[in-house]
Amino acid sequence: MKNIILTGFMGCGKTSVGIRLSYRMRRTMTDTDKKIERLYHMSVPEIFEKLGEEAFRDMETQCLEKLLEEPKGQIIAVGGGLPVRGCNRRLLKKLGWVVYLRIKPETVCSRLAGDTSRPLLQGGDKEEKVRMLMEKRAFLYEEAADLIIDVDEKTIDVIADEILEKVEGE
Ligand code: S3P
Repeated sequence: MKNIILTGFMGCGKTSVGIRLSYRMRRTMTDTDKKIERLYHMSVPEIFEKLGEEAFRDMETQCLEKLLEEPKGQIIAVGGGLPVRGCNRRLLKKLGWVVYLRIKPETVCSRLAGDTSRPLLQGGDKEEKVRMLMEKRAFLYEEAADLIIDVDEKTIDVIADEILEKVEGE
């Protein structure tokens, strides 16, 4: 049984879709941000503040290496910036079947308007930050993906249905 990995920009619904899939497929759900927070006893914003982004990215790579040693068949939601590193994209491919939840910048902005938990979107013009990061990342998400799903205006259940339909055909 393969792992199902959910990737995509902040706010695309990786965690919500992951929880729904895990319930419907009766599979374990793992979230790399949560796994890192538990391991280092710090929240993601604290890690960014105290240790910096590069240290967090190293933790993400170590987290993928650990997941490779765990039993397969999990639903894994990964942090939005994790596929940016080439070595992480290669690890994702080894780890399982990668689903990219593609979202438009305007949908991210409306969903994350009041959000204070994503260090990369704090301070200054949030819309500009979202657009710039998205531009840098879009093709990397696509490169790592086995399946791309456009999520704007879709409910969590509709997205989960689309994934399940493809999983069953795999
Ligand atoms: C990040 C996304 C966040 C979290 C961190 C960095 C990013 O995860 O890993 O704030 O670089 O896009 P979510 O995508 O779950 O918000």
